[in-house]
Amino acid sequence: MTTILVTGGAGYIGTHTCVELLNAGYDVVVLDNFCNSKPEALKRVQKITGKILRVINGDVRDKECLRKIFTKYPIHATIHFAGLKAVGESVTNPVMYYDNNVMGSVALIEVMDEFNVNNLVFSSSATVYGFSDTKPISETAPLRPFNPYGRTKRMVEQILEDLSASDTAWNICLLRYFNPVGAHASGLIGEDPNGVPNNLMPYISQVAVGNLKELSIFGKDYDTVDGTGVRDYIHVVDLAVGHVAALKHIDEHLDGLMTINLGAGRGYSVLELVRTFEETNSKAIPYKFVQRRAGDIAIYYADTSLAKEKLGWETKLNLSDICRDTWRWQSQNPQGYN
Ligand code: NAD
Ligand code: UFG
Repeated sequence: MTTILVTGGAGYIGTHTCVELLNAGYDVVVLDNFCNSKPEALKRVQKITGKILRVINGDVRDKECLRKIFTKYPIHATIHFAGLKAVGESVTNPVMYYDNNVMGSVALIEVMDEFNVNNLVFSSSATVYGFSDTKPISETAPLRPFNPYGRTKRMVEQILEDLSASDTAWNICLLRYFNPVGAHASGLIGEDPNGVPNNLMPYISQVAVGNLKELSIFGKDYDTVDGTGVRDYIHVVDLAVGHVAALKHIDEHLDGLMTINLGAGRGYSVLELVRTFEETNSKAIPYKFVQRRAGDIAIYYADTSLAKEKLGWETKLNLSDICRDTWRWQSQNPQGYN
């Protein structure tokens, strides 16, 4: 069986990807320090799949820990999710972000190289495009990240681009995610943010379950269909399936480095998402309009043609599926994994 190392595998996207990997017949080794996740999430992955995965509690910056993993397991490829992702926190504590996201990636690359494991899928983000004028946004759009989190993602992309140019042994897929949302259809795993959520979908679901009073919509005067911000929401299960497609592509075709957007390829406004959630789940979401949030962009959605062409992948789940699955997870787990 082919063994995949999944760093950050206990997190939101990592757990859903572990499910798809196990279901596709891969052996999975997870490395996570649980700084933003709980071991319970991985128990649930095993419950969903009826399969065992190996879990190492460790830090991706710890090269000795990595060496032990590569010595013990016949790792064929790594999917590298481990990292910090809160934009606001990256502005107040940038060094922590450069240390974790950039240094962690460098440590991983070095140890993979020592063990001649050269197949890598990296979690990048649409945030590397920054304020993009083009819509939809294709992979060739200018890259102008404007916060420390976005810069850590672009820096790791650049390190991997330079690495690939210097050494043809490496096969690397950089995946730029748009807005991952939703939860596994079982209702057993989903997004479990610490404290008050920063992002729209977990905020809506916590209003629906009664943990929060009302949604604040940031701005109603954008140049969009109804004045609220437009984003490309992608179901986390579709995103997870995209990672399995990327691994297959690396094995069957890829020689070098490829950068691919993973999104649904169309945008929805905040109000469209709120209304779809209300209609799908028969739950009212009280909201009020407040000031625009600093750093927000009016419209953001992906050109997904490259993913279709190269990976044979496109999203299968729509906004209603997203809202239904989010609510199943949140209503069955009002306090997340606690
Ligand atoms: P998450 O926080 O739920 O998962 C990240 C996991 O990595 C957590 O389990 C955390 O404990 C672990 N981790 C962090 N630092 C680590 C370290 N030094 N060593 C070992 N483990 C560590 O986040 P997620 O939403 O699942 O995101 C996964 C990846 O995708 C991240 O790299 C993130 O930047 C990227 N991404 C996320 C989004 C999004 O909106 N969720 C969008 C674009 C890109
Ligand atoms: N929004 C609200 N109220 C909230 C939260 C969000 O109105 O309480 C609005 C925002 O203004 C925006 C939309 O909902 O118009 C989506 O906001 P999110 O915070 O959910 O997502 P962003 O697009 O701002 O950012 C997310 C991740 C970033 C990542 C980016 C692109 O948080 O890390 O997607 O992938 F870089």
